[in-house]
Amino acid sequence: MAEEYKSYEEKWGGRAKRARKEDILQSVIDPGDFGRGKNRFIDYVQKIALSKHLVNAASLLDFGCGTGRFLLWSSSRASWIVGIDITREMILLAKGHTRNLANVRLVRCSCNHLPFRDESFDNVLDVAVLQVLVLGEDDCVNAVNEMVRVLKTGGKAYVIEQVQGTPTTMRSHEDYLKMFRGCTCVVHKPVMRRGWGKSSSKMVVLAWKKKMPPFAFPLFGRIEMIMAKRHFEKRRASFDGDYLFVFEKGAT
Ligand SMILES: C[S@@+](CC[C@H](N)C(=O)[O-])C[C@H]1O[C@@H](n2cnc3c(N)ncnc32)[C@H](O)[C@@H]1O
Repeated sequence: MAEEYKSYEEKWGGRAKRARKEDILQSVIDPGDFGRGKNRFIDYVQKIALSKHLVNAASLLDFGCGTGRFLLWSSSRASWIVGIDITREMILLAKGHTRNLANVRLVRCSCNHLPFRDESFDNVLDVAVLQVLVLGEDDCVNAVNEMVRVLKTGGKAYVIEQVQGTPTTMRSHEDYLKMFRGCTCVVHKPVMRRGWGKSSSKMVVLAWKKKMPPFAFPLFGRIEMIMAKRHFEKRRASFDGDYLFVFEKGAT
């Protein structure tokens, strides 16, 4: 594995070691969320955004699977799933969480050099991985090229990334749209606004800590998605937050 990727390993390995073992969300979303409300909320909203689109996949690649939260979620939505991640500790946690799932396999590798043949998967899922590739623009472009290479023609890549949200990358809508060469973007919609101060999600976190009944949680998730949509419609250019893109690979 190339020397430059050691820095990713160190960062994510450290996060995986520091998080509580039983908490599948802490090392892949916000490591500082000890109350768990914020991470559960983000996890919930990302899954409802995907659930309308990712149904009945034959084969699925979870691109940067982390602790395996999407491997668990998609195991009933795909016939077989492969999770890849560069970080040894993440792969070990994902193995533990998915040990009872017969249709899940895990491979430790860099997303810039996938050990799979061209057109191996019907679908690819990427949640919050491109946004952490910060060594250089080429790094992210190479990762996307690999993602598209292993996707079958006509297959779909489901991508949830922060747009203009990470201080280190600040990638725009156009940056993401441009990177997926040879693909058509068939879905492009906001999932969640960035910034807890202005967000309804802050209410959820506070409410959750005071033991809000679980039935109210999905309601707040849906409110956040509606508010994100409205916010985006009004101020498209300046919208920052989590975004869902679905790309379909065209014939070459
Ligand atoms: C923010 S976490 C997201 C994990 C998972 N997709 C999720 O949403 O739960 C980012 C993940 O990307 C992995 N990662 C970082 N750089 C990578 C690389 N070059 N190749 C493969 N995985 C990488 C990290 O180990 C980490 O597990």
